[in-house]
Amino acid sequence: MKEKLQAIREKAIASIGEAKDLNTLNEVRQELLGKKGELTAVLKGMKDVAPEDRPTVGQWVNEAREFIEGHLAEANKKLQSKALEIRYEAEKIDVTMPADEVKRGNLHPVSLVRNELSDIFTSMGFEVFEGNEIETDYYNFTALNTPDDHPARDMQDTFYLSPEFLLRTQTSSGQIHVMEAKKPPIKIISPGKVFRSDDDATHSPMFSQMEGLVVDKGINLCDLKGILETFLKKLFGDGSKTRLRPSYFPFTEPSVEVDVSCFQCQGKGCKLCKGTGWIEVLGAGVVNKKVLEGCGIDTDEYSGYAFGIGLERIAMLKYGINNIKLLFESDLRVLSQLDD
Ligand code: DAH
Repeated sequence: MKEKLQAIREKAIASIGEAKDLNTLNEVRQELLGKKGELTAVLKGMKDVAPEDRPTVGQWVNEAREFIEGHLAEANKKLQSKALEIRYEAEKIDVTMPADEVKRGNLHPVSLVRNELSDIFTSMGFEVFEGNEIETDYYNFTALNTPDDHPARDMQDTFYLSPEFLLRTQTSSGQIHVMEAKKPPIKIISPGKVFRSDDDATHSPMFSQMEGLVVDKGINLCDLKGILETFLKKLFGDGSKTRLRPSYFPFTEPSVEVDVSCFQCQGKGCKLCKGTGWIEVLGAGVVNKKVLEGCGIDTDEYSGYAFGIGLERIAMLKYGINNIKLLFESDLRVLSQLDD
């Protein structure tokens, strides 16, 4: 019997040693100590042992069981720390690895310009009015002193949707809606998309403008000059100078074209300003009395000024872009560089 138990012990050590992980070790435990195990078979056979030998044999069996359990426990401990090591290895983090790049979006340059201009004008008391992209001929032209046969209609190639409806060619159409809806004092800006059948390096069939309109008592060209000087200094820097040149728009009288001193060469003359020292940035003027009267505003009491700014043009100047198409191609390699 003693030899048999010794053989069981040796077999147990061998199979415990072979277990490579905790699951296998559990199976080995079942085989060795479970109901069908050899040791249990020996215990079951105790009834055949002579009664006087039973205490001794029983003790041998117990010792063998304790011996096997001791080895199982030891193997269990080793396999557990091995499993932990494997897990730690798998979860290891190399803190010196370069981080994954997180790509952040940025606003489109035209949106940046629109926001900057809106901030400047609202800080000077202007309210924002959103106009309509689809307009009637009346709001886009007739009410702006540009009747049907007026030669100024040729200044802008229009997309007509029907004889009556069109895609607005200028945010100036918003002026009429505002003056019809509201009595003076009026002080608004109106940013938005406009459309013209025009397409080259500096023109796009769709572009953006920001209109400005002020109507109040005693408004004149000096007020316009003052507000534009303040605006252009905020946009292009304190050293910027402003120049008004006579021009023509049907809805303003007098009309002016506004230049700012070149911010690249400070007026000395460079490629950007084509050697002139000046850059044209917007059109403006004193609102034509006919326009005010058409909206039911008493011109003995009130007068106004208006201006229109091309936002793509400002973006191109600000970010040094020479082709307007770059603003509409949605090439992220270009757009991601144009952030403030
Ligand atoms: N609407 C004009 C254009 O698109 C720009 C403009 C000029 C707007 C003079 C004005 C203005 O309000 O007074 O060419």
